[in-house]
Amino acid sequence: MSIATATDLTVPTLGGRYHFLLRRLHSVTGIVFGGYLIVHLLVNATITQGSGYQVQVNKIHDLPFLPGLEWGLIYLPIIYHTIYGIWISLTGQPNVVNYRYGKNWMYLLQRISAAILFFFILFHVLALKYKWFGPNLSFDAHDALQTVARHMQEYKFVAYGVYPIGILASCFHLANGFWAGAITWGLTVSTGAQRRWGVVCLILFIVTFGAGIAALMAAMAQRF
Ligand code: HEM
Repeated sequence: MSIATATDLTVPTLGGRYHFLLRRLHSVTGIVFGGYLIVHLLVNATITQGSGYQVQVNKIHDLPFLPGLEWGLIYLPIIYHTIYGIWISLTGQPNVVNYRYGKNWMYLLQRISAAILFFFILFHVLALKYKWFGPNLSFDAHDALQTVARHMQEYKFVAYGVYPIGILASCFHLANGFWAGAITWGLTVSTGAQRRWGVVCLILFIVTFGAGIAALMAAMAQRF
């Protein structure tokens, strides 16, 4: 007869004695990329102002040290967060079957949204930045409004399927991640603090999701 010990049930850790550090780095990179995502969605919402969108895109492209900012605040954080996040997801132990509490569902949904985001971000970057799927699914910073509108109008499955799902997964993962991140950093210790921060994160979800869908609808309605 074999007896399971605590060691057998322990999920393998990555990084040995640096595990804690790597875990905190995962949290901080998620928060940094989340900050970028909020700006990204709000800038995209200016598509509702028509030509005002190009003005905002120009401001971003005129920023000094742009490649450094992009690598420091966008690419490196999301690359690390994704690689370590895949490991966390593969070694996680969802338990909603036994314990159907709201927070257990959030734990599972954070991982499901992460999986969707992996494919969505890959598609988004390869299509818009690296033009993998042809000129109609690419982005030209000098002709921002037209290219975004063409992107949404030429491919209905992208406008009505890929983007709404991608935006929903992004905004949920962002808001729920910010809620969990406050616990990670010891900012919300009491249940009261977690509830109040939960309200703020819910508002963050509504605002970012609203901004994303407004941008999408404005791009679809654009005439050119
Ligand atoms: C829109 C892009 C993303 C943003 C804004 C984001 C942000 C965050 C934040 C703020 C957290 C909370 C960290 C904490 O608990 O301290 C988090 C958690 C997590 N993220 Fe992301 N993330 C994104 C994409 C991804 C991707 C692509 C993956 C993996 C494929 C991923 C996997 C995870 C996992 C597994 C957790 C839960 C970690 C835990 O429970 O300890 N994330 N994310």
